[in-house]
Amino acid sequence: MIQPGKNGFSSIIGESLAMEQVIQLARKVVASHATTVLITGKTGTGKELLARALHHNSSRNNGAFVEVNCSAIPENLLEAELFGYERGAFTDAHGRKKGLFELASGGTLFLDEIGYMTMNLQVKLLKAIENKRIRRVGGIADIDVDIRVIAATNRDLEQAMLKGSFREDLYYRLNVISIELPSLVEREDDILLLARHFVDHFCREHQREPMMLSKRAEHSLLSHRWPGNVREIRNAIERAVLLSEGPKIVPEDIRVTVRQETSIAAPEARNGRKIVLNIPESGLSLDDVEKRVIDEVLHLSGWNKSKTARMLHIPRPRLLRKIAKYHLSPNKHRSTIGAIECEDSRNGG
Ligand SMILES: Nc1ncnc2c1ncn2[C@@H]1O[C@H](COP(=O)(O)OP(=O)(O)OP(=O)(O)O)[C@@H](O)[C@H]1O
Ligand SMILES: [Mg+2]
Repeated sequence: MIQPGKNGFSSIIGESLAMEQVIQLARKVVASHATTVLITGKTGTGKELLARALHHNSSRNNGAFVEVNCSAIPENLLEAELFGYERGAFTDAHGRKKGLFELASGGTLFLDEIGYMTMNLQVKLLKAIENKRIRRVGGIADIDVDIRVIAATNRDLEQAMLKGSFREDLYYRLNVISIELPSLVEREDDILLLARHFVDHFCREHQREPMMLSKRAEHSLLSHRWPGNVREIRNAIERAVLLSEGPKIVPEDIRVTVRQETSIAAPEARNGRKIVLNIPESGLSLDDVEKRVIDEVLHLSGWNKSKTARMLHIPRPRLLRKIAKYHLSPNKHRSTIGAIECEDSRNGG
């Protein structure tokens, strides 16, 4: 740990493989001379937290960490913010003003929501990054700046580039080093770790006796999909800490909607066989999935076609057509598709 503390890497909670890889890459970036870093990831995955950690762990930590949200400011104001202006550059420019590039010199400039920057400004940004030099609006002299630009986005920049709203040259410049923060559903191992961390954190912050999550509460946390990622779990736990009568937090204290069954199991078979889908990198055809599910449910119903049709919520004639299409028969050795395993959830599942 280079610099533990509030803004260090230790502030980033996560022991999943995906997060370990993120931190490993971040440590390499910190030690490098990379002048641009792109952080991508869905909302609430910790892009800003990581940007701060990158700054505070780097040799630039004596300089400033200057942050600007590119989606929140109109183009001409953003230009003046970034590059500064000279007196008389525009009607309201009564004096001269340093821009964020100058203020961040020696430190880090964090351009949040870069995907919303206009094409026009993107050109100027790229020029500033490549030349390490800026010119204030209305100015005539170039000013040297020594900065690391960290850009963040929850937009798919590649997609934006293909659609023509993000410049290719800037994209490739920023993408030299990019760190993608995984969504919380992709790192389920971290859900309880984060939840327990926030329980402790908010008990201290709201001066409540230490609390813990009940088993049922943990179960409901694990069943939620967390579209708002870490921000959502943080808010849910803060609310629970405030409302819980303690010392055990129960599911009723946590307002989350429970995730739909992710396993493909016919309702009547929920306590019976479970089909687990592992999707190989080469992909998986929907037909293969359908064939396997139908085969499994037929087997489960003892090849009772009416029952199978009911369990699959389809009319019987449609089931018959599918049986023919996939050449399914009770006597045939049931096909196994490498990607799909069946588990008997009665055996301890
Ligand atoms: N791994 C983590 N460990 C601890 N706290 C985290 C972690 N990731 C995010 N957080 C917390 O979750 C909240 C949201 O994080 P942050 O603002 O960095 O997300 P973001 O990716 O920038 O989101 P957005 O795209 O909506 O701006 C913050 O309070 C942050 O401190
Ligand atoms: Mg953010």
